[in-house]
Formats: sequence, C-alpha cells, structure tokens
Amino acid sequence: MGRSGSGKTSMRSIIFSNNVTASGTARFGATIDVEQNTVRFLGSLVLNLWDCGGQESFLDSYLTTQKSTIFQHVGVLIYVFDVESRDTEKDLVYYRDCLEACGKFSPEAAVFLLVHKMDLVGGKKEKVEVFARKKKELLANSGTTKVKIFGTTIWDESLYKAWSRIVHTLIPNAPLLSKHLTTFARICSASEVVLFERTTFLIIARSGDQSMAEFDSDSDDSLDGSGNTDGESDVALNPKRFEKISELIKAFKISCSKLQEQFNSLEIRFPHYTAVLEILTSNTYVMIIVADPDVQSAALRMNIRLAREKFE
Ligand code: GTP
Repeated sequence: MGRSGSGKTSMRSIIFSNNVTASGTARFGATIDVEQNTVRFLGSLVLNLWDCGGQESFLDSYLTTQKSTIFQHVGVLIYVFDVESRDTEKDLVYYRDCLEACGKFSPEAAVFLLVHKMDLVGGKKEKVEVFARKKKELLANSGTTKVKIFGTTIWDESLYKAWSRIVHTLIPNAPLLSKHLTTFARICSASEVVLFERTTFLIIARSGDQSMAEFDSDSDDSLDGSGNTDGESDVALNPKRFEKISELIKAFKISCSKLQEQFNSLEIRFPHYTAVLEILTSNTYVMIIVADPDVQSAALRMNIRLAREKFE
C-alpha cells in the first residue's frame, strides 16, 4: 500500500523478478487497481503479493467498497511512503485509514513502514535526521499498532534489508534454521554462514547469536545511528554486508541471464578469508565465510553436499 508513485511496483519487481534493474523501473506506468502475484518461496511457502495501485480513486475504493476484500487475511501490511512527498498530511490520512481497516479485518498482521526513495535525501547526516523525523511522525500516527520502520531505496542494499526482514516474519521455522546454520558454521570452522532464497536472494537466516535479535529489531539501525551490532572483533564488520551481497549477486544473476547462463557456485578469495557460495537446497543458496587459511574450499563444498539432505 502507499500513494501513487511512492515506488511499490518498482521495489516488488526488483526483488521478485529476475530481470528488472533499478534504472528499468523509470518506464513503469501506474498500477491499475490491484496487481496480484503469487511467488513460490522456499518450496511449500507461497507468498500472495498484492500491489495496490495508489491513485486516490483506487485508495478510496479500497477503503470503502473493497474494504473487506483488500484487508481480509493480510499476513503483512507493507506501507510505502515517498520521503519526498509534498502532501504528507494526505499521506498520513490514507495511512491511518488503511491501518485501521487492517487492524479490523486482520488484527494479527505485521505492519512494515518503508520510508522510500532515501537516495533523494542529501548526505548521511541529513538521511539520519530525515529518517528520525519521519519515524517519529509515523509512530505518532500508528496509535497502539506495533510497526517496523525502514528507510529504503531501490538504488542500494537497503531494499534487501527491509524485504529480508519482511519475508523473515513469514517463515515459520526461521529460528530453527538459524540454529542449524550456527551448528553448520561450527562444523566448517566458519566465521559466518548465511542462507539466501534462491530466486530473490533475500536473506532467510544466518548463523550466530546476534542473528535473531537483529532480524527482530523494530527499525533501521543503520539509519538510527546505533551502528554495528556484530560484536567486538578487531576488524569492524560492515553491518550491511549480507544485504550488499544480496544486491550484488542479484545484479550478477541478471547479467548471467542476459547471456543465457546460470551460475551454481562462486568462490571468492581474499588475503584473510575465503567465501564460498553454492546452491544448498532446491530453494536456497548458502554462503560460508572462513577466516582460517588451513580450511580448504573443497572441504567446504563437501560439507555443503553432506548437509544438503538435512536442510532440504
Ligand atoms: P502506483 O502504481 O501508481 O501506485 O505507483 P507505485 O507506488 O507503484 O510507483 P512506481 O513503482 O511505479 O514508481 C514510480 C517512480 O518512482 C518510478 O519512476 C520509479 O523509477 C521511481 N522510484 C521507485 N523507487 C525509487 C527510489 O528508491 N528512488 C528514486 N529516486 N526513485 C524511485
């Protein structure tokens, strides 16, 4: 949900289509009424995505005649705000009405608010300030509903971060996956292990004790200024590293598909660590990051092969 031009179709296409780049969204026309898509995600999990056109006549009809159809059986309400919108008052009126309707027909729905097009806001300091202001405004307009707020743009990994969190709330066995990945990381002497969904490259789960807390946080810590939560290692780890990987690999996949090629596996060697990315199950890729120079990548691949059955 969100007003026309806020960027809903753009973000949906970038995440769920395999051939749309950020620049390609400039030619998108307005969505007429509701565009429904079914995405098979992780085998048995099926996501029904409803992209609700945001022109006022459509929004008015969702909130009147179509109310019970639109807001019934909602798993997650994702409301997109254009950070540059000049009509904030009206944005908030529609938002409050949608929130109320969702609360009435689907009281269990999780609510995510995306302050979108953050690329249009100047430098880092200004982004933090604008996001803080928007967040305060949105919280003040959300009543008692628990909302999660993220700053996003189609031009960087922030989109993957928000959508990974969104999809994560819909995966029933995510905590168990994290637990198995932590065991797998220990067996491989790995620093980190991350599981990506195969088509979207969204992060499904990762090893380590921090993983769940980070996924459950209420808002965008990178824009809250709270910084890195990854422990006290000597080398500061970039807190956005996995979303960046999602974004890069997705772009690489699009390049490969233009050449009618597909990749199954990647190995990247750095002076101090090795990263192996490989298909784990029919719906996932796994990435193992190892800092120990004595661990051979062939051994990691063999471990992945041996773990396949358990994760499938
Ligand atoms: P309706 O279908 O009318 O409801 O609009 P929508 O919310 O689906 O908007 P759409 O995805 O069609 O995007 C409108 C315009 O915003 C397009 O030209 C996109 O390229 C642009 N856009 C989308 N996301 C971003 C972003 O993160 N940054 C910037 N600068 N432009 C964006």
